[in-house]
Amino acid sequence: MQQFTMNDGLTIPAVGYGVFQMSGNEVHEHLPEAIQAGYRHVDTANAYFNEVAVGEAVKASGVNREELFVTTKLFPQSYPYEQCGTDIDASLERLGMDYADLLLFHQPYGDYVAGWKAMEEAVKAGKVKSIGLSNFPMHKIQEILDIADITPAVLQVEINPYWNQHELKTQLASTGIVFEGWYPLGHGDRKLLEEPVFTELAAKYGKSTGQVILRALLQQNVIVIPKTTHRERMEENIDVFDFTLTDEDMAVFATLDDPAFKPIFDHLDVDTVSGLLNVFVGKQLNGEKLY
Ligand SMILES: NC(=O)c1ccc[n+]([C@@H]2O[C@H](COP(=O)([O-])OP(=O)(O)OC[C@H]3O[C@@H](n4cnc5c(N)ncnc54)[C@H](OP(=O)(O)O)[C@@H]3O)[C@@H](O)[C@H]2O)c1
Repeated sequence: MQQFTMNDGLTIPAVGYGVFQMSGNEVHEHLPEAIQAGYRHVDTANAYFNEVAVGEAVKASGVNREELFVTTKLFPQSYPYEQCGTDIDASLERLGMDYADLLLFHQPYGDYVAGWKAMEEAVKAGKVKSIGLSNFPMHKIQEILDIADITPAVLQVEINPYWNQHELKTQLASTGIVFEGWYPLGHGDRKLLEEPVFTELAAKYGKSTGQVILRALLQQNVIVIPKTTHRERMEENIDVFDFTLTDEDMAVFATLDDPAFKPIFDHLDVDTVSGLLNVFVGKQLNGEKLY
């Protein structure tokens, strides 16, 4: 498995297994299959309500903890400084782990500046190896950069061939922040998967369109974390290291980026934001535990 090196000197497997929208039972069923298929990187969050199942599946896998890369994320309710320290411990307890490989602030609201100091302390205490951000726009990333002793190592944002985040990548080039793309297959979007550019490349390389998309993102130095509950797709999505797209192929890929493409979530839209926060708070109010 290819690894990317982060700005803190640590490495991260280039393809991960995302478990968003998977229940604890689904994680118990499918994460072991993913690990068997060769995944060594799993992407969860406290807001996915499945950290306990992720931890149990990792433990039961028989693969050494050090060989697995586990990412989790905190929702904005956790960002106030004191709360952040408490909630990092709570995530580790749910995961049943001494440390997480990567901890991200999931959404760009609330007291993320104060919380970042608690994130840095967690790194120094060995509770977290690397820290980063998700869904943060440039001006809010800058607020963190302005006070950071530890620069974010990773930025996890929506990335697919129509929405490539070229501007943000350029703005952050000097920081060494590694980009991680969620929604890399556009959530299985047929238009994306049947885009003629990809069907032609898929035929040329004897691969699926999904594999061509994932490969192109990897060649743009983007980590991908596709989610699937199907064993054959797990194998397909990780089988992307035996071919290389040419510069010409990559040039065509770059032209697909469409500034008019609307991301699935607009994280600066008030209704989207309150919807996201309410789902999370609502689950807690309904008595759902964070797993
Ligand atoms: N930080 C954030 O705010 C954020 C937001 C969203 C997601 N994420 C992370 O990113 C991960 C992936 O995102 P996502 O699940 O939204 O999108 P995705 O990986 O682009 O798409 C997943 C969908 O595509 C289908 N699929 C998977 N592999 C396929 C293939 N080879 N061919 C055709 N269809 C395929 C899956 O269906 P089946 O399961 O039926 O195979 C699933 O419905 C999440 O699990 C999560 O870890 C993070």
